[in-house]
Order: sequence, then structure tokens, then C-alpha cells
Amino acid sequence: MKIVVAGGSGRIGGKLVYNLRQDDHKVLEASPTFGVDTVTGAGLKAALDGATVVVDVTQSPSLDGADARAFFETSSRNLIAAGLAAGVRHHVVLSIVGVDRLQASGYFQSKKIQEDLLKASGLPFTVLRSTQFFEFITGVVQDGLDDDVVISPALVQPIAGEEVAEALADIVLGPPLNRITEAAGPERLRLDDLATQVLTAYEDPRRVVADVHARYFGAELDDRSLLPGDGPRIASTRFHDWLRQSLQSPTHAARVSNRKS
Ligand SMILES: NC(=O)c1ccc[n+]([C@@H]2O[C@H](COP(=O)([O-])OP(=O)(O)OC[C@H]3O[C@@H](n4cnc5c(N)ncnc54)[C@H](OP(=O)(O)O)[C@@H]3O)[C@@H](O)[C@H]2O)c1
Repeated sequence: MKIVVAGGSGRIGGKLVYNLRQDDHKVLEASPTFGVDTVTGAGLKAALDGATVVVDVTQSPSLDGADARAFFETSSRNLIAAGLAAGVRHHVVLSIVGVDRLQASGYFQSKKIQEDLLKASGLPFTVLRSTQFFEFITGVVQDGLDDDVVISPALVQPIAGEEVAEALADIVLGPPLNRITEAAGPERLRLDDLATQVLTAYEDPRRVVADVHARYFGAELDDRSLLPGDGPRIASTRFHDWLRQSLQSPTHAARVSNRKS
């Protein structure tokens, strides 16, 4: 079975490709790094030739609402048209828990467009909506340039990227569900508490300021916004265990030594 992973060089895509290859599947990464562009269509027809499953884990290079809408609309249309032409039997999209509730955000609008185009395409499909990745949360907190990290105190149920890739691999190897399914981490935590844990772990002296009006991709959050509905797949890794592990990694040691030198 040939599996094409659009966005196969990315954070989730790379892990998914690795996992599927360990199981001896033929996997092709489709992304600009590998000469395939889902926006211009370059290399797409050849990439999907003979493919049984397509997984879309692409990300827009710009998360600005208008840019993301243009990216996901064009990329999804091209992937779907190429998939229909190639006779693909299962098209899988990675989306985000809460996408319907956050339509004040241009970015979340773009993810809804991606889901809706697939649902209307006639292709057998599965949409996996995941909660926020641990890696994404630490990235957001560490990328802030201001003295304070101003963040919503909304509840979130984050998940390790590795376990999102595992959930996707199970979907890829199963039949199309023709519906949306969800995955989340094992515990509900507040975003500001997570930010505090990250700053403490990295000995970052900035303060965390919880602000209920702080925007998340342009949308205000409440305690329901980012939580999954009934019956999500629940992953097992806890945030503080993952953070402790990631602090022991060579990458972290190099970062700390660079900061101190
Ligand atoms: N962040 C979260 O917490 C979260 C939660 C739930 C769902 N998601 C969803 O998860 C998905 C994957 O996120 P990620 O963090 O793994 O993304 P990422 O690490 O930023 O990777 C993005 C991937 O998209 C590819 N790409 C960019 N432009 C492309 C193009 N024109 N044609 C084909 N591929 C292109 C990149 O390829 P190159 O490397 O070759 O440029 C890369 O492989 C996103 O759709 C996001 O909405 C994210």
C-alpha cells in the first residue's frame, strides 16, 4: 500500500512517516522539501500515482488568517483533485479540536474550509481533530519577545505530538470513518499554568499574566473552546513528564549552554 504524506517533513508528518515505515509501508513525503507543492501543484500528480491513502498534515507558511485561508483552500482543492484522479481510497486530514467554536479566527476558518472541502469531495475520508501539541505550546511561550507572557487562562487538554502521529497511523491503517474523530491528552490544564511550567523549566525570568481577553489566533477563549467533545481518543503522556524528558534532550542542553555562553 502506497501512503502519501502531504507535509511529511513537518513536526507531525515526520513522526508519522517514521512510524509507518517501521511497519514496512511504502511512504512518500510530499512537501516542497521533497519537490512536491500542494499549492502550485508541482510534482503532485506523480506523487499520488498509485497511492491508496493520502494524509494531509500540511501547514500554511503564514498563520495570518487571509494567508492561511488562501493556503488551505488551494492546497486542499489540489490534493482532492489529484486524489480523485489517482483513485485514492482514503484521504485523512489533521485538524484542530474546537474548530467550529473558534470561527472568529481567520486561521480556524481556514481549517474549517479544509475539513469542509474534504467532506464535500466524494473521497472516502477521516478528519482527526487534535488538541494542542505539547511542542506547539512550548514554542508559543518561548517565542514571545515581550517582558510578560500574556495568555488566556482557558482550559486545554494538550497532547504529545508523538501520540498524534500514533493516532494518525492507526487511522491510516484502518478503514475510512467518513466523519470527524478527536484525540486529546490525559489531563485538563489551564494555558497560563502550562506557560508557567515552561518558563520555570527553562529558567526564563519572564512573568505569566493570565488575561481572559488574550486572543488565541485572533479569537477569545472560554473554558469550552479548546476541549474535546465526548469520546476522544485519550493519549497517555502527561505534560510535566514530557517537559522533563525534553529538558534531558541534547537539543535542550545545547540551547542552555548557548544561552549561558
Ligand atoms: N499546532 C497544534 O497544536 C495543532 C493542533 C492540532 C492540529 N494541528 C494541525 O497540524 C497540522 C500540521 O502541523 P505541524 O505543526 O506538524 O506543521 P509544520 O511542522 O509547520 O509542518 C508543515 C508541513 O507543511 C509543509 N508545507 C508547507 N507548504 C507546503 C506546500 N505548498 N505544499 C506541500 N507541503 C507544504 C511543510 O513542508 P516543507 O518542510 O517542505 O516546507 C511541512 O512538511 C497543521 O495543519 C495544523 O493545523 C496543529
